[in-house]
Amino acid sequence: MKCYFNISELLTLRKAKAKDGRNLKASDLDVIKNGAVFFDDKKIIWVGSTLDATDILKRSDVQKIDLKGSVVTPEIVDSHTHLVFGGNRAQEYSMRLNGVDYQQIAASGGGINATATATNKLSSEELFNLGKERIEQIHSYGVGSIEIKSGYGLNFEKEKELSIVINELKKHFKDRVQIFNTYMCAHAIPADFKNSQEFMSKVVIPLLEDLAKLNILDAVDIFHEQNYFSTADTELLFKKAQSLNIKIKTHADEFNDNNGAKLAMDYKALSADHLLKTNLENIKLFKNSATVATLLPGTGYFLGKPQADARSFLDNGAKVAIASDFNPGSCHCDNVLMLASLAAPNYKMNLTELWASITLNAAHALNYLDQGCIDINFKPRFSIFNTKSIDEVTYNWGKNLSC
Ligand code: NIG
Ligand code: FE
Repeated sequence: MKCYFNISELLTLRKAKAKDGRNLKASDLDVIKNGAVFFDDKKIIWVGSTLDATDILKRSDVQKIDLKGSVVTPEIVDSHTHLVFGGNRAQEYSMRLNGVDYQQIAASGGGINATATATNKLSSEELFNLGKERIEQIHSYGVGSIEIKSGYGLNFEKEKELSIVINELKKHFKDRVQIFNTYMCAHAIPADFKNSQEFMSKVVIPLLEDLAKLNILDAVDIFHEQNYFSTADTELLFKKAQSLNIKIKTHADEFNDNNGAKLAMDYKALSADHLLKTNLENIKLFKNSATVATLLPGTGYFLGKPQADARSFLDNGAKVAIASDFNPGSCHCDNVLMLASLAAPNYKMNLTELWASITLNAAHALNYLDQGCIDINFKPRFSIFNTKSIDEVTYNWGKNLSC
């Protein structure tokens, strides 16, 4: 058993949790000054002020850790990354600055297929090592749970290898970082397939059945988008995943509104992500849905596209998360805390909404329902920052205060 004490500000998010991460007010932040938290390996046992922790701090069976005035928050979660990939697409960023857009680049041989070519040149060991370095980097910012999608193999063998590499990373990091393994073979259609249906029937669905036997997948995902995967493809994948008892996530309404968010909610997806073009009628459906609306501001910044209408989701009672979407093409930024701090003023989010979006709600987007809040019986998963106030953490864009 351990007890952290002398925490200058302990962000609990207990009120946000009580409101299921929705309709959060600035006054719901719920910070304990000079806080303390007592926990064992599995759960939090007590939370309060250091002044009230004297009995706990006297016990000889408790390891006492003096945080010397640091800030503690619920663990930061990055609920959407594509971090296992080969090569990079730096030249595409420059091309976009010079006037060529993301879809045009993809149509002329760049984009996801270009990363698939680079990824296929690497061995599984090289991909593991790249993934490991990237996870270490992300963890250094204070992020303790990371979702990773496959999707840069784009053929049966390499996609299988990628899902296995992610599982190896999950095993490697299990005591420090919680990894969530998402199967996203339906990411782009390789040039040697005549259409998405052919790729779905020959690769995406059979490989999902194959991987399900290994029991290593936490969810499936699909790029439900014009020129990528249709609504019919998406439903086929969702039905198959449900029959195999695997959760669903989706890339929805990114470039076009195709009712992707609604479809995700109809199938009780853990999250619908991107949502730049979601119509108001569908936005309103999030109010009565457990599906998390995940916004990816870095992608809008990186591609120079307008951002999602965050206020509309928030004001209509959605459970909103922010994630990095870290990938080599549409967002080569791995720092979700920095992205959320950058985006919040434009999204017009209050501080409680900001923190819930990268902790509590992001955890729910990964079905981690027992974390994201510092309260009795929750998992002892924390982020710790070497500064005196919670304000400093988001104020210092991109400065790493994590310890
Ligand atoms: O979430 N939208 C689909 N997939 C990624 C982009 C991946 C890439 O460009 O390599 C995304 O933005
Ligand atoms: Fe993505």
